[in-house]
Amino acid sequence: MANIEELKQEFLEICRNSIKREGIEELLNWICSSDFFRAPASTKFHGSYPGGLLEHSMNVYRCLKKIVERYPEENISDETVAIVSLFHDVCKVHYYKTGTRNVKDESGKWITKEVYEVDEQFPIGHGEKSCIILQWFLKKLTVDELLAIRFHMGGFDAAVKGGDTSASRAYDQCPLAVMLHLADLEASYLIETKNQA
Ligand SMILES: [Fe+2]
Ligand SMILES: [Fe+2]
Repeated sequence: MANIEELKQEFLEICRNSIKREGIEELLNWICSSDFFRAPASTKFHGSYPGGLLEHSMNVYRCLKKIVERYPEENISDETVAIVSLFHDVCKVHYYKTGTRNVKDESGKWITKEVYEVDEQFPIGHGEKSCIILQWFLKKLTVDELLAIRFHMGGFDAAVKGGDTSASRAYDQCPLAVMLHLADLEASYLIETKNQA
């Protein structure tokens, strides 16, 4: 687990240096007043500890930067890389609450453990919610940025599981959407699971 305060400063520095879009200061003010920097990234999978969401967002940023460098012909700007990676999971702001669960410890004794639980106040879809929240602040997101954030979950997306074909059409027309999904997978399954082991 990284130092949350150092990572937070790094996150804010990248935002201030790379994102010049109208509304970025308002977005950062909202982020700073929210639980973004102390929220987990999930209830029990990757990053299920305070600061997990921040750590995951930074990992996705680093992974996406490297993927984008391999495709210079796509002309994807540093600003776009920063927006779609650092904020792709902004839907997880004010999304988790702490609760308790009774579990057995190693000796078989029942103990009460603190756990994260989902407390969704705005159930409008995962990628969809991130797009909507960002649009409240940034003027404006491009079509490619919206497609990338909307479909960053790839085949794990509930609409895709239900048979919606929009994700594959988005991937056909938008290389950035494919790249963000790859970066999200790499961060979640190759980097963060290793850190927790
Ligand atoms: Fe996500
Ligand atoms: Fe993610």
